[in-house]
Amino acid sequence: MKLFNVYALFDVDIVKGKGCEVWDDKGQKYLDMYGGHAVISIGHCHPHYIEMMTNQLHKLGFYSNSVINPLQQQLADRLGKISGYDDYQFFLINSGAEANENALKLASFHTGRTRILAAEKSFHGRTSLAVEVTNNPKITAPINANSHVTFLPLNDLDAWKKELSKGDVCACILECIQGVGGVNMATPEFAQGLQKACKENGTVLITDEIQCGYGRSGKFFAHQWLGIRPDLITVAKGIGNGFPMGGVLISPEFKPFPGELGTTFGGNHLACTAALAVLDVFEKDGLVENAHLVGEYLIQELKELQQRNKHILEVRGRGLMIGVVMDIPQKDVRNKLIYQQHCFTGCAGNNILRILPPLCLTRDEADLFIEKLETVLNEF
Ligand SMILES: Cc1ncc(COP(=O)(O)O)c(C=O)c1O
Repeated sequence: MKLFNVYALFDVDIVKGKGCEVWDDKGQKYLDMYGGHAVISIGHCHPHYIEMMTNQLHKLGFYSNSVINPLQQQLADRLGKISGYDDYQFFLINSGAEANENALKLASFHTGRTRILAAEKSFHGRTSLAVEVTNNPKITAPINANSHVTFLPLNDLDAWKKELSKGDVCACILECIQGVGGVNMATPEFAQGLQKACKENGTVLITDEIQCGYGRSGKFFAHQWLGIRPDLITVAKGIGNGFPMGGVLISPEFKPFPGELGTTFGGNHLACTAALAVLDVFEKDGLVENAHLVGEYLIQELKELQQRNKHILEVRGRGLMIGVVMDIPQKDVRNKLIYQQHCFTGCAGNNILRILPPLCLTRDEADLFIEKLETVLNEF
């Protein structure tokens, strides 16, 4: 049987990882400034993670949500504390798209409404509602196009307020730093105005922190830079450092009823162990602070590189979520970075490099990346 061929693949077989480095099957080492699409938060193969996962596997890998699983409550307590959302409730699933599906469903149960506002250039996943609120007709199948959604320009508060004032909007969903859309950032004025307008009109505010959250921006959640407190917050990617997981943080105003949501795999013993190991390392190694400090350093160094190299048009982002806008195709730059410089990066659009390394990136690794990028850009 052939694989269903939907991915544009690099001709590299990664077989091993450690911290911010990975190795291919020929023993070649690569600097990982991509984290397997922002998934690797504490670094590849962290010894504490391996130890906790191994111990848990020896005890129990999985049992269903029909029995008490104390690891789920432990995780909710730890996450509530570290993120500043102690008073919220937590629901666990397996992926980012699933987190957004469940958040949108909760918003609809809560308000009785069906209309959603989302941002132009948004990306929220590939399943039914998640892809419907994603602003990309190419990946929206006819069966997903159910006219629930109005797309509006990010940061155009008046446009969002105008729609909200109609009184029929169930939820606004927002990436405070857009990922796939190209590292575009919501402003504090927009976010605060949107939160106020949502409250006034009985609309639920959802922030999608799947890519920009979980420490990546240098605060636990990217929306915490903007002075807002959303009703629902979706997480995935970094939560399990590669173990497939997602979650929704839910305001106390939402009261659950039996059977309202559910999942077979979500919050299983191994998944919770992965997430607990991640939070241990976050706390022990100060990774959110590291993302902030090393991120600021890297952004500064990239801006200095921009002074030396005319191909960089703009550097934007926060913490370790950085967009480098260039006047040359990102595809050509990434190819050279991978095959000549042995360095992984992400991308957005035609001309943006998206930098999403593990949150344990060091200044030396940041310097090494600048060296590699400068070498490549000098070839154009
Ligand atoms: C902001 C955002 N939301 C949702 C998703 C979907 O997550 P998943 O691929 O785990 O379904 C992604 C994935 O890239 C994302 O970046």
